[in-house]
Amino acid sequence: MPEDLPMWFHDSALIPISWSAAFEVGVPDLDVEHRVLVTLYNDFVLATNRRVSLTLRWEILDSIRACAALHIQHEKRLLCRLPLPGAIDQPRVHRLLLDDLPRPGAGDTDLLPRAEADRALRNAAHILRRRLLAHFQDDLALFAARPS
Ligand SMILES: [Fe+2]
Ligand SMILES: [Fe+2]
Repeated sequence: MPEDLPMWFHDSALIPISWSAAFEVGVPDLDVEHRVLVTLYNDFVLATNRRVSLTLRWEILDSIRACAALHIQHEKRLLCRLPLPGAIDQPRVHRLLLDDLPRPGAGDTDLLPRAEADRALRNAAHILRRRLLAHFQDDLALFAARPS
């Protein structure tokens, strides 16, 4: 189940993530992909804060999901070639990044009243922020252990 945030949280301002060199894991391709995820997340925040059309916001969320799924596949292939301590935990950790984000057009999300859809999208943005930051921390710990 997606984390359900307290009601007051849904109305709190969404904050973009400022990319920082502190997020860099030192594997250039992964760092670029993390940056792309941050850019998409920030677009999602901007679109949500400005309450642009729900359709566009669902599409941005779907792009984030697709991009994160490709990124996870990439990390998986890399870890097959570069076994690292902690790699064994990656499938579980990676599932946490994408698990149960609401899907546009799946089930009854299209039928949600506008206010509920708006709340679902804001909830998704808050959750995504926490998950992305946790993912970057996790990758930092994992890839810091790689041989130089
Ligand atoms: Fe990553
Ligand atoms: Fe990872």
